[in-house]
Order: sequence, then structure tokens, then C-alpha cells
Amino acid sequence: MKILWNDKIVDESEVRIDTEDRGYQFGDGIYEVIRIYEGLLYMEEEHLERFWHCADKIRLTLPFTKEEFSQRLHHFAEEVGIENGRLYFQITHGTAKPRLHDFPDAKEVMPVLTADIQTANRPVEKLEKGIRGGFVTDKRWLHCDIKSISLLGNILALNEAKENGYDDAVLVRDGIVTETSASNLWMVKEGILYTHPDGELILPGITKIKVRELATTLGIQLIEEPFTKEQLIEADECFKTSSVAEVMPIVSIDGKNIGKGTPGTVTKQLQKAYIDAIEESVKKM
Ligand SMILES: Cc1ncc(COP(=O)(O)O)c(C=O)c1O
Repeated sequence: MKILWNDKIVDESEVRIDTEDRGYQFGDGIYEVIRIYEGLLYMEEEHLERFWHCADKIRLTLPFTKEEFSQRLHHFAEEVGIENGRLYFQITHGTAKPRLHDFPDAKEVMPVLTADIQTANRPVEKLEKGIRGGFVTDKRWLHCDIKSISLLGNILALNEAKENGYDDAVLVRDGIVTETSASNLWMVKEGILYTHPDGELILPGITKIKVRELATTLGIQLIEEPFTKEQLIEADECFKTSSVAEVMPIVSIDGKNIGKGTPGTVTKQLQKAYIDAIEESVKKM
């Protein structure tokens, strides 16, 4: 597999990451996942915008401009040549010795960038049938808006849900539903769409931006305010969104059907609109 390693494209066997890399030692870094459809880096601008915001939040000075980085990613995507897949990239605060918690001096220590592209098919069957969620207490930190490579909180939640026989964790903090282990969460009640507002308790999803836009176009009322797990159980429909999962129906939670226990009308409408929007963007490329 080819890896983009800082400004070079190399075989994965050539990558050398120091054991004192702050990403390896502290999880001190951020990442992004961009879907590639027919060679198009979908919603690239929005992903880069979030990457830049997250870098600011962890005081990481990115060693390139957005334009330079975008060119580097496009060149890498052309070299790899995967038409439908997902691009993963991360950057860490680099290697500083000795191991100290203090952020290194940006003039002395270069951040370490790595990226790879792997084939990814759309999860068609799950998109049609939906998945089963299970409530899990949201025990993550209070910077969920940072797309941090430290994902242990999310990993523990997902695995707790899986141990209980569910496909994903529906996270609940103080009785309020926040998101899932790797997606934003939405419910529909009497035709109105609800989702948790952006802030420090959730990741501001790029797919969420698109769904917001599509809801407006389709004339679906959207309310971004906190709701409880009891309200969610009583909802007519539920779905989650992410670049990888797209608009994914959640048909039951803790074994209880949401609505009829099948993907709902509004969910299906948004799923279709989401795919149409991708096709439109691909055409314009
Ligand atoms: C915790 C969490 N929330 C939401 C999302 C959805 O983000 P996006 O739509 O940008 O993929 C992700 C994606 O990885 C995530 O990890």
C-alpha cells in the first residue's frame, strides 16, 4: 500500500514513525476521513476546513496552506488510482525528546503527516435494512468537537454495544442523546427532524452539513436541540450520518423498534437526496 508520508509518497514498508512520536505516545494528533466517489474527494473543502479548525484547537501549526495540502492530496489520489474508496489522513505534533507533556516548539519540531487510500464500497445492504443501536453512557472527554486520533472513548463505547449484541452505540450523556460512536445521530418525530446542536459534546459532521442543506431543500423542518433517550425511543424514525455510513437507518435501540422497525419515509427521502447530491457533484467534476 502507498502511503503519503509528509511530502513523499512511499511504500508502507518505508514509513518510519519514531516511538516518541506524540501521536504514538499521547494520541496527540487529529485526523480526517474523506470519501472518494468516482475519483471525487467528496466535500473536500469542508473536511479541510474542519482539519484546520481542529489543528488550531490543539495548537498545531500546519506546515502547509490549504491549497498546498489539497494539491498534495490530489496528487496522492491520482498516484494511488482508487476511484471509490476512502482517504484517511492524520497529523501529529511530531517527535519531541525527551518525552514531555508540554507542546513542542513549532519552530523545532515538525508535525508528522500520514495518509492512505483504501477501497471502500457503499454499505448498501445496511443502508437498505438499517442497523440496531444500543444505548451506551457517553463517557468521552469534553472536546468531542476535536477530531482527535485519541479514540479510546469511542472504541470502548462501540465495543460495549457490540458485546450487548448491537451494531453501534447510541451515546447518552446525562440523559441526553449526543451521537453514535462514529456518526451523528438524528430522529424524526411527526415529520420534524431533530439532532444534537454542534458544540463540545459532538463532532460537527461534514455529512451533517450536507443533510442540513438537503433538509432545507426538501422542506423538512430541522430543529437542532438536545433530546432525551426516552424521546428517541418514542420517535418515528432514527438514523445516523457519517462520510462512511452516509445516511444509515437505525431501526431499533436496545431491542425496541423505532417507529415500525424499518427505515422511515424521511430517512429514505434524505438517503436518496444524499446519493443524488453525490452524483451531481461527480457530474460537475
Ligand atoms: C464521533 C463522530 N461523530 C460524527 C462523525 C461524522 O462525521 P463526518 O460526517 O464528518 O464523517 C464521525 C466521523 O468519523 C465521528 O467519529
